[in-house]
Amino acid sequence: MTSLIQLIYISRSTFAPAELSNIIEPNVARILLKSRVNNKKNGLVGVLYFGDGCFFQCLEGTAESVDQLYETLLNDTRHKDLKILSRKSIDALSFSDWSMKHVQLEDGMIKLLKSQGLKTFDPYNFNAEMTKNALELLHSTKDVTDAVLLEDVNLQASQLDNQITQTPARQTDYKSLILYALIVLVLLGSLVIFLK
Ligand SMILES: Cc1cc2nc3c(=O)[nH]c(=O)nc-3n(C[C@H](O)[C@H](O)[C@H](O)COP(=O)(O)O)c2cc1C
Repeated sequence: MTSLIQLIYISRSTFAPAELSNIIEPNVARILLKSRVNNKKNGLVGVLYFGDGCFFQCLEGTAESVDQLYETLLNDTRHKDLKILSRKSIDALSFSDWSMKHVQLEDGMIKLLKSQGLKTFDPYNFNAEMTKNALELLHSTKDVTDAVLLEDVNLQASQLDNQITQTPARQTDYKSLILYALIVLVLLGSLVIFLK
C-alpha cells in the first residue's frame, strides 16, 4: 500500500504583489492554473493561501509525489525561504475535492491572527496550534476562484507584461522624433543663411 502524507510549508514571494482590480494576485493565478493541471495528473491535492507576501501551502498525496513536488518548489524563483511546518502520514486525503484549493479569507484570517496577537500574516511566527487553526480555516472556507477567473487574471497580467516590454521601444521612437526635428531645423537654418 502506498503511504499518504500531508506536508505544510511556508515561503515568501519574491514578486511584489500587483495591484489589479481583481480579487486574485496574477502571479498566484498563474501558479494555481499550472498547479491544478499538474496536481490532477500526479494525484496531489491541497490548498494554497497567499497573504502579506507569504505563501502557506498544504500538499497531500503519496510521499513520493509530494516530496518530488517539494524538490521542484525549492527551485522555483517566485518564492524563497521555504520552511516545512509539518510533514505527517495521513490515512486519507482531506482536500480530496481540490487539486489546489485557493481561498481569499481576509476577515477570517485577520480574526485568527488577532486572537494570537499577530497583526499581519506572518506564518514564520506560527506555532503548531496556529498552523492547525490556519489549516482548519482553509478547510472550511469556500474557494471562489474558478478556471474562468484565473484565465481572465492571467490574460490581464500578460497584457501588462506586454505594455512593460513595449515601453522602452516607445521611448526610443520619441527620442528619434526629437532628433529628426533638430536635423530639419538645422537644415532650414542653413537654407535661410544660404539664401541671404
Ligand atoms: C508558492 C508556489 C506553489 C506552487 N504549487 C504548485 C503545485 O501545487 N503543483 C505544481 O505542479 N506546481 C506548483 N508550483 C509551481 C512549481 O514550482 C513549478 O513551476 C511547476 O510545477 C512546473 O511545472 P511544469 O514542469 O509542468 O512546467 C508552485 C509554485 C509556487 C511558487
